Amino acid sequence: MSPDISGGAPAELSPLDEARFGIKTARARTVSAQNLPAVLDFCEANQIKFLIARCPTTDISAVHAVESAGFLLMDTLLYLRYNLKDQPIPPNLSDVRVRAVRPDEVDQVGALAHSAFENFSGHYHADPRLDHRKSTEVYVSWARRCCLEPSAASLVLVAEAEGRLVGFRALRVNSDTQGEFILAGVNPDYQRRGIYRAFIVEGLKWFLDRGMEEVLNSTHVANVAVQRACFRVGFAPTYSWYTFHKWFD
Ligand SMILES: CC(C)(COP(=O)(O)OP(=O)(O)OC[C@H]1O[C@@H](n2cnc3c(N)ncnc32)[C@H](O)[C@@H]1OP(=O)(O)O)[C@@H](O)C(=O)NCCC(=O)NCCS
Repeated sequence: MSPDISGGAPAELSPLDEARFGIKTARARTVSAQNLPAVLDFCEANQIKFLIARCPTTDISAVHAVESAGFLLMDTLLYLRYNLKDQPIPPNLSDVRVRAVRPDEVDQVGALAHSAFENFSGHYHADPRLDHRKSTEVYVSWARRCCLEPSAASLVLVAEAEGRLVGFRALRVNSDTQGEFILAGVNPDYQRRGIYRAFIVEGLKWFLDRGMEEVLNSTHVANVAVQRACFRVGFAPTYSWYTFHKWFD
């Protein structure tokens, strides 16, 4: 069962997306057949050009309603959960050094995000109407924010190999009992060496030390690398969301 993340409002303005793409943007966190008219009214009242809307994959009536209204599917997000109460954390098999990011490394984390997300297939890159370069910049600025703003991430881990940073992983404490892995990227030259797995294992230890009972990680359903690493470590699938885009012109 997917959690309701609508917070009650049918939609909200998205100033970050608007600043990035120069397009008046809104987000509907949980669109349904019932609230779709209110979402569309909100967009009309606020002269929205571009809407990002999510619904649980279990809500097929929402899918059919938004399809009828001209929304286009852009990606599917799979949420994975790790039960820290009952599962021992497996070993970190990598010899790469994983440590907390330092304040002077924000630019390096931004550059890492650029190299990792340049050819990403998330919902921004999937939309041919959005500028590809600006879609990559979404992840660069998000990675930088994770280093700079405590509301974006509680911790950013980095991996060091051959005297340079080769990967990053942001973590967030959601509540007294729940942690979440937010964003991660590994330099393409250093991928497939177990660095992502090392981030998961070290991240789980960090959450356990802080008394968390469960940890979430979400990924685009086609992101095989994330799923392989997570399933091997012991994550289980829990729920999934569709991401739709709607253009009003
Ligand atoms: C996803 C990502 C972080 C994985 O990093 P990584 O350090 O290469 O991952 P690991 O070496 O720990 O590999 C994890 C598993 O995925 C597999 N894998 C890695 N890259 C893969 C690929 N491109 N295709 C298929 N499987 C892949 C590995 O073989 C391993 O599986 P195995 O244990 O069955 O052999 C990296 O590919 C990346 O930066 N991608 C772009 C950004 C992204 O997708 N970020 C995550 C979402 S926020």
